[in-house]
Amino acid sequence: MRIDVVSIFPEYLSALDLSLIGKARAQGLLQLTVTDLREFTADRHRTVDDTPYGGGAGMVMKPEPWALALDAARTRGLAAAGAAEQRPVLVVPSPAGEVFTQATARELALREHLVFACGRYEGIDERVVEWSREHFEVRPMSLGDYVLNGGEVAVLAMVEAIGRLVPGVIGNPDSLVEESHADGLLEYPVYTKPALWRDRPVPEVLLSGHHGRIARWRRDRQLQRTAARRPDLVAGLDPAGLDRADRDV
Ligand code: ADE
Repeated sequence: MRIDVVSIFPEYLSALDLSLIGKARAQGLLQLTVTDLREFTADRHRTVDDTPYGGGAGMVMKPEPWALALDAARTRGLAAAGAAEQRPVLVVPSPAGEVFTQATARELALREHLVFACGRYEGIDERVVEWSREHFEVRPMSLGDYVLNGGEVAVLAMVEAIGRLVPGVIGNPDSLVEESHADGLLEYPVYTKPALWRDRPVPEVLLSGHHGRIARWRRDRQLQRTAARRPDLVAGLDPAGLDRADRDV
């Protein structure tokens, strides 16, 4: 998979050199390029923003540096893929986007080329989004209902969530099966040694060696936890995926 990130703070993205994503890059499973938007400015001050038409607080990102930067990212993808079979996806992090979920991560993990455009200030001139639709599948994406200072932190989260689903990035793919949101539920609580810690025992069933009982206990905890913390997820569960014992929880 190829990932391009465009930002006026490329150093923000240096965390993507670390841990599993850094290793995947070193192994060639992910080709990740971060570029500085200011490289695509033509004036002495390397200006990327200007005042908003219609008035109002803050500044808006100018369209031309973005068009040049996105063209460059697209060209890199074409060069890498030869005749690209899929259009690249342009992810624009924004509190005004659709909410990024595990389902989105799964969907984007199947794509060949993702480009992330990190806006700052009050956002990017809307015409960039319209123009980009000629060459990209454009996805304005929000991490959730709160406001960050820019897209960089959102991109760190999205690239990590997507990148770990790319085959080979996580050593043991079984760990993807039982985690939160894999089956629409939150994950069950986990414990490790010692069996008794500060007067608190590990739940007895986990020491029983009885796989059926352990699986049932874990499933029950998932259902209880999801009902308590995220009733919105329970409402979205597919009834066909629930068994008789699930309904009793
Ligand atoms: N940029 C600013 N706030 C954001 C959010 N909540 N999600 C994604 N990008 C953002």
